[in-house]
Amino acid sequence: MYPQAKTARPGTINIVLQDTSSRSAPESRALTQERSPFRMIEDFFSSIVGLEALKRQMKEIYAQVVIAGKRADAGLKKNQQVLHMVFKGNPGTGKTTLARMVARLFHEAGVLEKGHFIEADRSDLVGEYIGHTAQKTKDLIHKALGGVLFIDEAYSLARGGEKDFGKEAIDTIVKCMEDHHDELVIILAGYPDEMEDFLTINPGLASRFPLKLTFKDYSWRELSAIAAGMLEDREYQLTPAADVKLQEHLRSVCSRSLLNFSNARYVRNMIEEAVRRHAFRVMAEESPQKEVLMTLEAEDFSFPKDEERVH
Ligand SMILES: Nc1ncnc2c1ncn2[C@@H]1O[C@H](COP(=O)(O)OP(=O)(O)OP(=O)(O)O)[C@@H](O)[C@H]1O
Ligand SMILES: [Mg+2]
Repeated sequence: MYPQAKTARPGTINIVLQDTSSRSAPESRALTQERSPFRMIEDFFSSIVGLEALKRQMKEIYAQVVIAGKRADAGLKKNQQVLHMVFKGNPGTGKTTLARMVARLFHEAGVLEKGHFIEADRSDLVGEYIGHTAQKTKDLIHKALGGVLFIDEAYSLARGGEKDFGKEAIDTIVKCMEDHHDELVIILAGYPDEMEDFLTINPGLASRFPLKLTFKDYSWRELSAIAAGMLEDREYQLTPAADVKLQEHLRSVCSRSLLNFSNARYVRNMIEEAVRRHAFRVMAEESPQKEVLMTLEAEDFSFPKDEERVH
């Protein structure tokens, strides 16, 4: 079984976040004394905009882990917990970001021994000759023991059909999951339709990944909140005109339902571009004030007219 979750005292959950250095002692106490047993989870995901259904699912998974620990303490039967997951969502909807957080959260909760995160795709698992794939996949799984193995675009393993080495990788993963069933969490990720097809074709695999989380496309309001969070993180602010321009652009982009739109990654790229344009503009000033150094103006945002470029 996964190790028991650490519980501080009845009714409270003791998750020690990795970066607690910036938190004052009273603040930490306030957080652990909070009545809601999920307060810490909420805090953990506070930088993540939206994804409410997902945060709720995380609380359920977490509750399951904590209660399993308490049941064990009370001498009750242990029910096997399978924590392997499938993340389905379009580009830039936060799958990789959330998976990294799951690794940290499960480590803090005592579910995973090390909590490291290994990201892999087809090329990391599939080899070039008979026997090579099994070894490559096994090696990767061994590296991931105690943490999370995140397999992106998992369906690419099934693309080549029966004779492809991808199938050998899938078989090896299934075998290793049985050998190390409680020592790591595997997350398969990918775009929704491809992922559905992949799991339908491989029902044995689907049943081994009981936790299925769907990442929806963001609304323009959510993208706008994500932009605000990214700006705050980077210590930038917008003039009112820049703010209006940005919001109008996001509203217009979302209303067009573009194919392959990269959601939050699009926002990140947009901000990074504005930061570069701002730097270029501010270079002309000899000794810019702090306010100038942190303020993005409407002219720093240049949006493509051509829809094809909006990804
Ligand atoms: N809900 C969110 N709140 C804040 N930032 C977010 C959110 N979702 C995504 N981001 C940010 O958007 C960027 C892209 O996210 P991420 O790489 O996790 O997406 P993805 O679903 O893995 O995309 P892909 O399918 O293309 O790999 C990251 O910088 C991430 O921090
Ligand atoms: Mg990703």
